[in-house]
Amino acid sequence: PSLTPFHTFGLSAECPQIITVTSIHQLKTVLAKHADNAILLGEGSNCIFIEDINVPVIVIQTKGIEHERVSDGIIVRAQAGENWHQFVTHCLHHGWHGLENLALIPGTVGAAPIQNIGAYGVEVAQFIHQVHVLDRFTLEAFVLEAKACEFGYRESVFKQVHGRHLVVTQVDFHLPSEWAPNAQYAELRALSSPSADAIYHEVIKIRTRKLPDPNVDGNAGSFFKNPVISEALFTRLQQEYGLIAGFKQQDGIKIPAAWLIDKLGFKGKATGGIRCHPNQPLVLSNFQHGTGSELLMLAREIKQAVEKEFSIVLENEVRLIGKEGLIAL
Ligand code: EPU
Repeated sequence: PSLTPFHTFGLSAECPQIITVTSIHQLKTVLAKHADNAILLGEGSNCIFIEDINVPVIVIQTKGIEHERVSDGIIVRAQAGENWHQFVTHCLHHGWHGLENLALIPGTVGAAPIQNIGAYGVEVAQFIHQVHVLDRFTLEAFVLEAKACEFGYRESVFKQVHGRHLVVTQVDFHLPSEWAPNAQYAELRALSSPSADAIYHEVIKIRTRKLPDPNVDGNAGSFFKNPVISEALFTRLQQEYGLIAGFKQQDGIKIPAAWLIDKLGFKGKATGGIRCHPNQPLVLSNFQHGTGSELLMLAREIKQAVEKEFSIVLENEVRLIGKEGLIAL
C-alpha cells in the first residue's frame, strides 16, 4: 500500500503493510509479531518517507482523554493517538491553561514528547508529568517521570539509542491552576490582554499565515533545527552579516536557521518538485510532485552551503526514513 496519505510531506512511497491499531492490546499483538522492524507512526507530520520501505508501518490511533484534579491543578491523561490540536482545544475549553501556545501543531499527543514539540516560547516538556511507554521487544509497560525523558530542544530519550525501543502509549500532563500567560515571543507581545484564549487564537492566526498548509503544499514544518552556536561565532555573524536575533541557552546562543538559509538566497529555490518555502525558508515543501531524492539533494545543498559560509552544521529536525532506517543528511 501507499504511504503517501500517511505522511504530511506527501512523497510517493510504498510499504508491504500498514496496520492501524486502536487499542493497547492490538498494539501489543502487532508488536509481538513485528517488534524487530516495524515503523511506528502517528499522523506522519515529522517523518518523511524518502523511498519505498520493506517493513510494516504501525499507525497508532488509540483515543481517550481523562482527568483528575490535584491540589495545585489538574492532571490530564491522553492516549497517544489523540490529535494534538484537538487535545489543546479540549483543554482550553475545560479551562485548563498552559498549552495554548502550542495550538495548531500538526501530529498526535504520542509524538509530542518524542521531539519535545515547541512554539512561541513554550515547550511541551514544561507540562509533561509522566509518559507511559511500552518496550517494543519485551512488551513490558511502564511509566517514565518527566525527568527520565531527558527533554531538550527538540530532543528526548525517545530519540536516543537507549530509548528508541520505547513506544509512547499515553502522556499525562500537569496543568497548574496558577497560570500566567506566556506572551514573551515577539509576535505575541502586541496582545493587550493575553488570556489563554487570546493566545490560542493569535497562535492559530500566525501559524496559518506563516506556515504552508500541508494539504496544499506537502511539508513537515521546520526541516532543520535552529542551531546553537558559541558567543564568539555569534559576535562574528553580527559584525559580518548583521545577524540580530539570538536566544541565550545554557550551552550557547540559538539563532534562526531561517536567517542563515535566507541569507544564502535559498528562499523559493526549487530542486525538481521540492522547494525551499518563499516565506518561511526553514520549511521545505513538496510543491509539485517531488521525489525523495530531490528532497535529499536540496536539503544537502542547503546544509553544505550553510556549513561552507558560516561554519555551522545544521541538523535535520524531521526524521527521514528510507529502506535502511533513518537517513542522515
Ligand atoms: N527569518 C529570516 N528570514 C525569513 C524568515 C525568518 O531571517 O524569511 C528569521 C527571523 O529572524 C525570524 C526567525 O527567522 O525572527 C524565526 O522565525 P520564526 O519565528 O518563524 O521561527 P522559526 O525559528 O522559523 C521555530 C520553530 C517552529 C515554531 C516557531 C515559532 C524550530 C526548528 N522551529 O521556527 O516549529 O513554530 O519557531 O515558535 O525550532 C517545527 O518544529 O516544525 C516548527 C514549525
